[in-house]
Amino acid sequence: MNHIILIGFMGSGKTTVGKRLSESLNIPFVDTDEEIEKTSNMKIADIFSKYGEVYFRDLETKEVRKLLKDTKRKVISVGGGLAVQERNQPYLKKMGTVIFLEAREENLIKRLTGDTTRPMLKGGDLKERIETLMKQRQEAYHRVADLHIKTDEKNIEEIVEEIKNGI
Ligand code: S3P
Repeated sequence: MNHIILIGFMGSGKTTVGKRLSESLNIPFVDTDEEIEKTSNMKIADIFSKYGEVYFRDLETKEVRKLLKDTKRKVISVGGGLAVQERNQPYLKKMGTVIFLEAREENLIKRLTGDTTRPMLKGGDLKERIETLMKQRQEAYHRVADLHIKTDEKNIEEIVEEIKNGI
């Protein structure tokens, strides 16, 4: 399949870049978090607080399996933890070209400060949470990705062009 899948940490710009890229390529944009919220009729934060993370991760895998059956080419932005789950990785590779959007920690901190929608960042010091999760996830993001883009110091148009030149 030839979908374009955007992976990376929360706040790395997957949704913003994904929307612009989909306009530029004139193909639909899908965000796994939005799909999960629509299907379950609940906000991600409420899913986490009511049913827990394991339940949410199962919903993510279901969503990926559903997208695997979708043959119309799309730009797909996936939640920051989705590509880290080993069971999802073969699906992502099958779906198309996987692009890792990377942003420096200080930029992530700027973008994520004050955010109340992301349960994985709750509790404790934001910088520490980001550092811990980044350490756990970085290797998986690199391993799954076909293309790795450093987004710092680039505007959205430049990132979109870089993706278009790389796919
Ligand atoms: C998560 C990232 C979020 C969302 C959920 C869990 C994570 O998506 O899926 O809050 O584990 O990194 P974004 O990466 O779009 O913020």
